[in-house]
Amino acid sequence: MSRIDTLIAQMTLAEKLGQLTMTASGYAVTGPVIAGDSTQSIIDGSLGNLLNMVGPGPSHEMQRLAVEQSRLGIPLLIGLDIIHGHRTLFPIPLAEAGLFDDALWERTAREAAREGAADGLAMTFAPMLDVSRDPRWGRTAEGPGEDPWLNTRIARAKVRGFQGGDLSSAESLAACAKHFVAYSPVNAGRDYAEVDISERTLREVHLPGFAASIEAGVATLMPSFTDLNGVPMTAHVPLLRDWLRGEMGFDGVIVSDYHAIAELMNHGVAANLVDAAVLALKAGVDVDMMSDAYRKGLPVALEQGRVTMAEIDACVRRVLRLKERLGLFDDPYRRGATPEPASVVAERHALAREIAGKSIVLLKNEHDALPLPPTAKKLCVIGPLADAHTEMKGPWWGAGEHEPAVSVLAGLRAALPRAEIRHADGVAIDGDDASGIEAAVALCDGADAVVLCLGERATMSGEAASRATPALPGRQQALADAATTRARALGIPVVAVLFSGRPLVVPRLAEQADALLAAWFLGCEAGHAVADVLTGRISPSGRTPMSWPRAVGQVPIFFGQRPSGRPMNPADYFTSKYHDVENTPLYPFGHGLGYGRFAYDELQVEPQRLGESDTLEVRVALRNVGARAAEETVFLFVRDKVAQVTRPLLELKGYAKLSLQPGEAGTVTLELPATELRYLGPDLQPLYEAGEVEILVGASAELGGLLRQTIELIWDVGDARGVAERAGFEPAEGC
Ligand code: BGC
Repeated sequence: MSRIDTLIAQMTLAEKLGQLTMTASGYAVTGPVIAGDSTQSIIDGSLGNLLNMVGPGPSHEMQRLAVEQSRLGIPLLIGLDIIHGHRTLFPIPLAEAGLFDDALWERTAREAAREGAADGLAMTFAPMLDVSRDPRWGRTAEGPGEDPWLNTRIARAKVRGFQGGDLSSAESLAACAKHFVAYSPVNAGRDYAEVDISERTLREVHLPGFAASIEAGVATLMPSFTDLNGVPMTAHVPLLRDWLRGEMGFDGVIVSDYHAIAELMNHGVAANLVDAAVLALKAGVDVDMMSDAYRKGLPVALEQGRVTMAEIDACVRRVLRLKERLGLFDDPYRRGATPEPASVVAERHALAREIAGKSIVLLKNEHDALPLPPTAKKLCVIGPLADAHTEMKGPWWGAGEHEPAVSVLAGLRAALPRAEIRHADGVAIDGDDASGIEAAVALCDGADAVVLCLGERATMSGEAASRATPALPGRQQALADAATTRARALGIPVVAVLFSGRPLVVPRLAEQADALLAAWFLGCEAGHAVADVLTGRISPSGRTPMSWPRAVGQVPIFFGQRPSGRPMNPADYFTSKYHDVENTPLYPFGHGLGYGRFAYDELQVEPQRLGESDTLEVRVALRNVGARAAEETVFLFVRDKVAQVTRPLLELKGYAKLSLQPGEAGTVTLELPATELRYLGPDLQPLYEAGEVEILVGASAELGGLLRQTIELIWDVGDARGVAERAGFEPAEGC
């Protein structure tokens, strides 16, 4: 018998349910706490998994209780949310998504895993794979932005990074793909509200990221809190059992979200904790996080014959197998056994600065206001986010809560030690007090440039942080009005640096400022990274992974919309448009300027006709016609103009980066296998179809700015459908 079978054969019901229970250990509690658990539960085997326990000391101490004092000596599984770095905080995931760089996505996850594992952890509740098209939803900050294809790339890179090549390594963590699935389209952007979307949107937009994470070998997965089309995800048999376990063959651990099993009662599908436990178990949830439903409810359900021991054993087996794969049985103390040398930590901070700099998106740069010229010796740095070092960390600071972070003011002072830098907040992040505006704006007199640091508090995004009006809070716009008016009178430029966990609705600020930067939340090195960009030490290269709305009423706004039967035509009244705002976003997906300027030359696409087994090669020549070195991100989109179901106006299918010196030319080559051009047909099954497809290449999803060519998809030689089509009759079923 295997070790796991032997253990299961020896376990009491209480010990089994202990393995299916995960309890917060008082480090960073994020929701309701079940009272009554203590270290005694670890010793008596009724608690097998912890969350939020950090540090090699405490985690090894708990591990010793499990391994050395419990009857069967089964090690604990200890997990924590590592959303954008553990102690060394990287930019929030939304900001990182804008890197469009698989290697860097993987690297930050790898570094976070090494740092977390050195703290005694074996699991993290990441990556978050919720495609978000609604900036009202605060958890937008934690995810990949609006595009499902981009999400699949991030999913793979993050799973590789967290788990490494060997899950049992002292530097690897079990990743957790969350929140399964379609959590983001919560009604009206309000966190935890219900979700009602079509099966097609579910399959086209929300499932692919999870499928990619499973293909990459993700060890665990977390269902979302939400109700999807009438069935709460924690009890969703068709998706958890049929799709995930069945269709996708996922045999890892499914861990519930925090208190989510008990919340089945609030959803109104369970009358009591016993019902809730039965529903979750039947759906395939292995581990109960913070509901205490399994320990309390399953013994009753078992007695009533509503669940079987075999069903419980199947969950226990998956949990024990995960512990085995993590190497916990062989050496439960390997993670956190040796402290990381200071040089590793320093290198990680250097990486955090590099990634933060690369995540900044230069949304606007009129008259080359940036970079600040070396002659700019007097700066006026105002706004409530200028000297706000803790806010720089953003939501989900994890174990980085007490670690230092660099504010913009500190970063600029370090970068420009000889400059005169004046500073005032002017206003608070929120609230009605405008009394400080006048004095703050008076600091502009005699300055060479104004740096306005505005935006949200870190806690305004993340979980439970929806905003009905995702705009500048408090009196910040009034500060921007006064500062830009004064700066204009003085003839000096205004650079606005915007901190947020989402695209903000800031058309007025975008109009007023000469330069506008989306700095999202950049983590511990934020201030240095902002200074690197402002001073021109680096050229900004981040691209926005979400469209920026002009007005809240445009939400949800995203580039992958389907065509209308009455496309927008300003000259025709009865077409799809608003009376009060343009249809287009203020800044489209993929937008982001640098300090160079790229001219796109001819687009070459080969072959012009390709079969299902062929690969398209797309080449575009670029030249940096600007005065500074810079990096360009080139996007590849497709459009299937005529299909059996309506296809999005644009679908992202590739991206590539190219760095060029001023005057230098280069070529970007992208490969697109024809299989990527399959779509879900009328029956929601993947369909490859002969016909024309438009290939579009450019710097963002702005339709007008894309180079395009049309190719023809043909049936492969010998393909029965092709033969049938050429012969002029319908292909037989199953072809
Ligand atoms: C969040 C999850 C998180 C869990 C554990 C929940 O409130 O929804 O994303 O992993 O807490 O901290």
